[in-house]
Amino acid sequence: MELKNNKSRELWISKIGFIFAAAGSAIGLGNLWRFPYVTGMHGGGAFVLIYLLSIIAIGFPIMMAEFVIGRRTRRNPVGAFAELGKKKGWQLVGWLGLATGFILLSYYSVVGGWILDYLLKSFRGLFHGKSPSEISGMFDMLMKNPMRQVFFHALFLVSVTYIVSRGIHKGIELWNKILMPLLFGMLLLLMVNSLFSSGAREGLKFLFCPDFSKITAASILEAMGQAFFSLSLGLGTMITYGSYLRRDVSLMSSATEICALDTMVALVGGIVIFPIVFTYGLAPSAGPGLFFVTLPVVFSVLPGGRIVAFFFFLIVTFAAITSAISMLELVVSYFIDERRWTRKKASIIMGFAIFLFGVPSALSFNILKDVTLIKEMNIFSFLDFLVTNYMLPIGGLLIAIFCGWFLSRKESLDEIRVLGGNIIVYRFWRFIIRYVTPFAVFLVLSWKAGIIAI
Ligand code: PHE
Repeated sequence: MELKNNKSRELWISKIGFIFAAAGSAIGLGNLWRFPYVTGMHGGGAFVLIYLLSIIAIGFPIMMAEFVIGRRTRRNPVGAFAELGKKKGWQLVGWLGLATGFILLSYYSVVGGWILDYLLKSFRGLFHGKSPSEISGMFDMLMKNPMRQVFFHALFLVSVTYIVSRGIHKGIELWNKILMPLLFGMLLLLMVNSLFSSGAREGLKFLFCPDFSKITAASILEAMGQAFFSLSLGLGTMITYGSYLRRDVSLMSSATEICALDTMVALVGGIVIFPIVFTYGLAPSAGPGLFFVTLPVVFSVLPGGRIVAFFFFLIVTFAAITSAISMLELVVSYFIDERRWTRKKASIIMGFAIFLFGVPSALSFNILKDVTLIKEMNIFSFLDFLVTNYMLPIGGLLIAIFCGWFLSRKESLDEIRVLGGNIIVYRFWRFIIRYVTPFAVFLVLSWKAGIIAI
């Protein structure tokens, strides 16, 4: 416990460096791969609307709460709750977060592996001139190939482990600053291309015209879970990143910027993908393969598509890695702070353990495809369901309750007002984090669990 107010902790160099790092954690496969496919599976517009509402009423206030806890203590989530929580039980929230990060990274890295495989495919120009059905065949081939999936899963995790073992600040701030704007620029170009396609009207209608008849308790929970997933909330990643944040940076404006950037990338991702879906008569509800089928279809016909494809997958690889880094950093920071492991030892041991834990997910589309857990889900989908629909929202609920009810007013006010932040805004946030956020999350969870009927 001697780490209290650990002043020697490495800090982000600048506010903008922090924003890019936190946005780098938030922006990733959640925006480009997961958001479009869950939106497609849950009927489009109405789902998007609930997702946006969740960002405002649940995501944003919890992001502030995580920053407050992290910066106040300058510690990893387990240590932070131990220090602020007084009662020992609160540490469990930190532990839950660590477990969530561990499981999440184990299958996120499998998808990261798919991206690497597509990076290689695009480098070899394999999409060029192929028909949509040949392209979806390529994805199926990859799913059926256990060795290839495990190999790329390993390669992805080795890269992430290497970067985390060297310390996240060296280099990552810089790369984020260069590549994040590039990702955005590229998405905007692809968006223009999609908007000129023949399916543009239908795609936009699907994405933005709500049809509430498609909404069920399950899809509301999924939309809320997607908000947690996309903003990297509920497991303590933002506690960890906030713990490296200097005191002269405003939490309110940082959280606003990060939420806005993340949401923009998800929406632009949707605007890129759905017009293509309708132009080529693909199924919006295709599932996890949606991203991997739609974009190559565009690259196959786009002039200069070969080069565009390669740069696109390169940047998406980077976006996936920066998100994965924040998951591993969360786990590793515990072993460094509380167990006194060296950064190198903690990264290598945890990276390897996560790799092993992720192997069944990589095999759940082939060798283990008949192993179904609840509701016919394979291991991969089950873990994703468990993490996004339950572990993240429950973690977020506890973080909101802790910050709203157990942290003294003085403690949170201190953090939020460092730059003379507006007291009215503070009061508003405190009201939301005490009453609205916990109530909303609780309601959705219990509705889904069948405890209440609406
Ligand atoms: N937000 C990341 C994404 O959208 C995923 C993530 C979740 C990262 C939780 C860290 C913690 O891809």
